[in-house]
Amino acid sequence: MITHKIRAFAPATVANVSCGFDVFGFALEQPGDEVELWINETGIVSIKEILGDHGLLPRQAHLNTCGVAVQHYLSSINSSYGAELVLHKKLPLGSGMGSSAASAVAALVAINHAHGNPLTRKELLPFAMEAERIACGSAHADNVAPSLMGGFVLIRDKEKLDIISIPVPDDLYAVVIHPQIEIKTRDARQALKKMLTLSDAVKQWGNTAALVAGLMKGDYELIGRSLEDVVAEPIRSIFIPGYNQVKQEALKAGALGCGISGSGPSLYAFCHGNEIALRVSNAMQQTFQSMKLDAESYRSKINLEGARML
Ligand code: HSE
Repeated sequence: MITHKIRAFAPATVANVSCGFDVFGFALEQPGDEVELWINETGIVSIKEILGDHGLLPRQAHLNTCGVAVQHYLSSINSSYGAELVLHKKLPLGSGMGSSAASAVAALVAINHAHGNPLTRKELLPFAMEAERIACGSAHADNVAPSLMGGFVLIRDKEKLDIISIPVPDDLYAVVIHPQIEIKTRDARQALKKMLTLSDAVKQWGNTAALVAGLMKGDYELIGRSLEDVVAEPIRSIFIPGYNQVKQEALKAGALGCGISGSGPSLYAFCHGNEIALRVSNAMQQTFQSMKLDAESYRSKINLEGARML
């Protein structure tokens, strides 16, 4: 048992990846949240401090994703220990970049490390999913799984934890641009239609299958053609000012495809190579700027490692 301070990092993620609502996600190299953790013998999980959230996140452990994840972990392994946490919130809240997931994942990796890593990354998933349920009412895994495990993941069945890592081509870059507005995942989920037409369903599952094929074959054109979303984008894009213009500019600048990152408001674009990614990132940022909207941009390869100890 490690009793001195330990610190872990968990990366931001892009969930859905256009066609794969609730089933696709991948990890970025940066940014990410960090959690410091001290084990104690109180049997209680508490949050000592949260830095970087402007006082917006709940401080009670049972209401905060990092606290909930650690509580579930400790009770599942019948540990009599407690933990004190400090969360360094580096991801913007309500950004569509897997912010709540990253806090939970960093805390889980830290607490598991403190116990000598008795559980695998995959076995940590249910605790992170419970944390997502606290954050937005739904225990979806498409942010927590890639943040924990790294890479591009396919959630075939979240109840059975049938999670598949999909290989990605080496020169695939992601650009993520975050306009400074907040969208709550809970609201963005409620806005979606509950029924799909058969023709939309056929389009969507054609694209999800083709995206997997494109990634595995390293076929950048096929990856691009598959980044189409007839389920969430038509509704959610309405809540993102300038969405269509920013997407068009990304495609004009050479992006393979572009869509909403998670539940928004961030957009992501896939690009072949760093040079194109830089061009795309500039084009997207300038388009938001021309609308007087500040936007932060990130550019990264797919992070194959996922969360890590610091
Ligand atoms: N799949 C989830 C959604 C991701 O789109 O609601 C939320 O980040």
